[in-house]
Amino acid sequence: MTRRILVSILVLLFGSVCRLRAATEYDAWLRYEPIEDQSVKALYERLPAVVVTLDDSPVVSAAAGELLRGVRGMLGRTLRVEAKVPAEDSIVLGTVESVKRAAPELAAAGGLIADGFWLKAAAFNGHRILIVAGQNERGVLYGVFALLRKLGLHARIDPLDDVENPYAPVRWVNQWDNLDGSIERGYAGRSIFFENDNVVADLTRAGDYARLLASVGIDGCTVNNVNANARMLAPDFVPQLAKIADAFRPWGVRLSIAVDFASPKTMGGLDTFDPLDARVAAWWRAKADEIYRAIPDFGGFVLKADSEGRVGPSVYGRTHADAANVLAQALQPHGGILIYRGFVYNHHMDWRDLKNDRARAAYDNFQPLDGKFAANAAVQIKYGPIDFQAREPVSPLLGALEHTNKTLELQITQEYTGQQRHLCYLVPMWKQILDFNLGVNGGDTPVKEIVSGRTFHRGLGGLVGVANVGADPSWLGDDLAMANLYGFGRLAWAPDLSAQQITEEWTRLTFGHDARVVDTVMNLQLESWRVYEGYTGPLGLGTLTDILHGHYGPGIETAERNGWGQWIRADHNGIGMDRTAATGTGYIGQYAAPVAAMYESLERCPDNLLLFMHHVPYTYELHAGKTVIQYIYDSHYDAAVEAQQFPEWWKTLRGRVDEPRYEAVVALLEYQAGHAIVWRDAICSWFLRMSGISDAQGRAGHFPNRTEAEAMQLSGYAVESVTPWEDASGGEAVACRSAKSCSAQFVFEGAAGWYDLNVQYFDVNTGAAGFKVYVGAQQVDQWKADARLPATAANGDSATRHRITGVALRAKDVIRIEGIPDGGDAAALDYVEIERQ
Ligand code: GCU
Repeated sequence: MTRRILVSILVLLFGSVCRLRAATEYDAWLRYEPIEDQSVKALYERLPAVVVTLDDSPVVSAAAGELLRGVRGMLGRTLRVEAKVPAEDSIVLGTVESVKRAAPELAAAGGLIADGFWLKAAAFNGHRILIVAGQNERGVLYGVFALLRKLGLHARIDPLDDVENPYAPVRWVNQWDNLDGSIERGYAGRSIFFENDNVVADLTRAGDYARLLASVGIDGCTVNNVNANARMLAPDFVPQLAKIADAFRPWGVRLSIAVDFASPKTMGGLDTFDPLDARVAAWWRAKADEIYRAIPDFGGFVLKADSEGRVGPSVYGRTHADAANVLAQALQPHGGILIYRGFVYNHHMDWRDLKNDRARAAYDNFQPLDGKFAANAAVQIKYGPIDFQAREPVSPLLGALEHTNKTLELQITQEYTGQQRHLCYLVPMWKQILDFNLGVNGGDTPVKEIVSGRTFHRGLGGLVGVANVGADPSWLGDDLAMANLYGFGRLAWAPDLSAQQITEEWTRLTFGHDARVVDTVMNLQLESWRVYEGYTGPLGLGTLTDILHGHYGPGIETAERNGWGQWIRADHNGIGMDRTAATGTGYIGQYAAPVAAMYESLERCPDNLLLFMHHVPYTYELHAGKTVIQYIYDSHYDAAVEAQQFPEWWKTLRGRVDEPRYEAVVALLEYQAGHAIVWRDAICSWFLRMSGISDAQGRAGHFPNRTEAEAMQLSGYAVESVTPWEDASGGEAVACRSAKSCSAQFVFEGAAGWYDLNVQYFDVNTGAAGFKVYVGAQQVDQWKADARLPATAANGDSATRHRITGVALRAKDVIRIEGIPDGGDAAALDYVEIERQ
């Protein structure tokens, strides 16, 4: 054992002891809670007291440190660290090679591939040893995490003979961090990597993030926005990047960066960035050499080109393959890879042409280039042909590149799925995508096999998740959202795991083993995507959000009549994009025959993608046995009811989950329940007006217990219209713009009893208005509108419900809301709804 290893192990161990005192959200699923149950503890009674590390490398010493930390946390014991196998029971950590050298008589497991590991309980010289052998150093680390996961899940470790290999070589996350410290589509605070155009001085969090990633088998992290800043390749920046790589290295996470295609010109001083120009190729080669001198294990480049305003090879009439290959060739001598984003489409498309279709774009752009990409390049394809919607069909491009490496892009950060303020657990969606059989060449070709490289015998491939963790203590801004990060890693490693298993693992590791906690959290997680889809955009409409701004609250018409191509083609008679080969855009023809036949046929097309594939009248009858319009109403009402249950389920866990996490999650689920109503009302009102067909159950457009703010007696408040109209009840709100405080009051006309009051207001991020609610002269509540919402105006992004429960009302009570504006927040009010308890 070198001094270096010992010191790093002690640092890791000591740090962990301090941290474990407060098992916080920061520790996520690596909490290593003490095992109290004696019968479980007994399972590990004979765990050896000695750990032997056979390799002298930062990764193996991180593995040893992690083992000490985990065992200390869960079993309250500190293992002894040795460099040689002692004459007593021991845990042996090392690569297969070094295990063979230390104990040649131990038959090593066969069949390990890079990053794979073997966990084995064996007898050796009359002693019991527990071997954690990796095919490489990273495999040792993954083996330790797998062993600790077993302890954390209270599983037996004797007998033990597990061999695990990664399903695919590429298991990366992409961060979309900007150098100024902001994060594109990040919902959890500032960057942990960058600030003020430099790498942050303290990279502790970068290291801790890498540890989280490693614990689920993620081996690469691209640290900056795909809309890359050219400065990433500046000579003074490369040494800074090397520091991030240093923080990642013990955890086996390779650093990669997104680059700007024009860099040879903007950064390198050439007069061109033509990928076929020899000077450009030389520039990229020299740049790659420079990076590898500073970062020998550098992972490679990610390139977004000719997409959403980024420059690309089209400037010189070159192809995407030309662009990819010039970078790939520069990386090739060093073992790096080039990931080329397949997210290329024209965002100035003429919406009036019914044959135009953004969904076709990835295939149309890349399929003709199949076979032209370098062996160390991969095309990264988003799971659906549009953009991370709550539901999309699997991208047909995934099945159309037989001679090109691919990576599948999933999104952990919930850009279109509630931005970590709504619970929307995506593992069930990802499972459907990974298992979807694209039927290429008439065969059984599920997406997971295609992207891992198995189907077409490609050497490179895998899964990439857009993660966007930030400086928030809980990493993603919501403790429950961390299940998406965990689940992504687990699926990238082993896509055959069931959603149930992944969810249960995460829940037990994060919240412990109390049966009620486990059941409740798992239910919440596993229902949440279905519910979210139900109150946002069912039937394959995508998320009916404001696509031009925050991608958050409802904003239906932003999808239509512009060049972005997220059209839903809703008019007074019908809705949906006709993507058929027969009469539509021909998109469906991009799938292999069995899949195309299913989508092309109205009879066989599943309801949940109907409006993605077909344009039908609102009165079209679904397989579900109801019309499209009635389904839209029902889905929104039913899902909003379910969302009301989420906080109630969670509240049954009071006292069973530590207070800070309990409170944080309650607040989010209550907010979500309120916002689900905003979604429900916006979409149902809009479709009611557009279709002219009323809700058979009489709900849409009728709000019997609601008093609109604009109908109240106002003092200081003035009526304003809200854009889009459907985001406010009645299309209007009241705002307090020219007084220090305003009020809105009305007379309660109901019978005496106990009531809940829902005060609907708009919480913008330009100030923190105050609200006070009075019944007669008595103040019954007050709060500040200081949530972190992506909104500067009264609309569906800012619409928020405040619930006041258990208020005794009597007929003719005057209910008064006082709004105290602050900065740009005009304490805007929408309505008050009074529900009898
Ligand atoms: C989405 C997202 C952008 C991002 C783009 C991409 O459109 O809204 O912020 O840059 O995807 O994946 O490149």
